[in-house]
Amino acid sequence: MNEKSWVREIPAPFAPEAPALPAELEVGAVGHVAIIMDGNGRWANARGLDRTSGHEAGEYALMDTVAGAVAAGVRHLSVYAFSTENWKRTPTEVRFLMGYSRRVLRARRDELNEWNVRVRWSGREGRLWKSVLAELREAERLTAENTGTELIMCLNYGGRAELTDATRAVAARVARGELRPEHVTEKTLARELYLPDLPDVDLLIRTSGEQRTSNFLPWQAAYAELVFAPEDWPDYGRMQLWRDLLAFQSRDRRFGGAVNRPAERGSWVI
Ligand code: IPE
Ligand code: IPE
Ligand code: MG
Repeated sequence: MNEKSWVREIPAPFAPEAPALPAELEVGAVGHVAIIMDGNGRWANARGLDRTSGHEAGEYALMDTVAGAVAAGVRHLSVYAFSTENWKRTPTEVRFLMGYSRRVLRARRDELNEWNVRVRWSGREGRLWKSVLAELREAERLTAENTGTELIMCLNYGGRAELTDATRAVAARVARGELRPEHVTEKTLARELYLPDLPDVDLLIRTSGEQRTSNFLPWQAAYAELVFAPEDWPDYGRMQLWRDLLAFQSRDRRFGGAVNRPAERGSWVI
């Protein structure tokens, strides 16, 4: 095994060598997919490697997943790359993750641009390294006119931070006398989120088998369908995304509404 076995070419979304979409998958059926990319450290440790190798392997999983999202006609793909809680990790790991985010953004922006992907950043400036923010802004600028999948890089993102920042903005408007408290609605708050035009999450995926949402998009994912994928993030990719999109296709979304279904023969009737 070479030292970095995860390093590989990622086929473009529609490249001849790319795997074919499953015939049953409805292209464009899901608008917004959000992914909690978890399990890098465990993946690496299980192979006797340092946690940082897991993050490095995650770059390939991310590119393969983005290619799969483009092929499947996903309009928005939000990925959780670094949370406001991840500052609790060791300084070495935090430093690695910041430097690594900067490198990945720089190394991959041209490829993403060729795939017609529009890159956007969501998060809080605060402690985010200025050099990382600069790379995010550069990727945003380069891809601003692209019309394909939007890739939202959630970096130094926290749902509670986002809602706190939005509340602060609303409070400031009230204090300036522009808005009366009784006129504050869900829309007022939604307009102050980091990316107000971002639609609600349809499907929220978390890898590594953990079953929690860890402060990811609580407002936008309030009615999301959840999928907990068993793979650690470095083992995830377009095939797993398509599998999870197929699972989503068979979900029955009700949004609080209800439908009367006549009991089928042999089913329970109470
Ligand atoms: C996800 O993998 C990547 C980030 C949170 C940045 P982890 O680093 O959380 O890996 P595990 O969960 O410890 O295996
Ligand atoms: C969530 O993963 C954050 C990211 C994937 C960036 P964590 O590994 O940080 O979440 P917890 O601590 O297990 O909930
Ligand atoms: Mg984790």
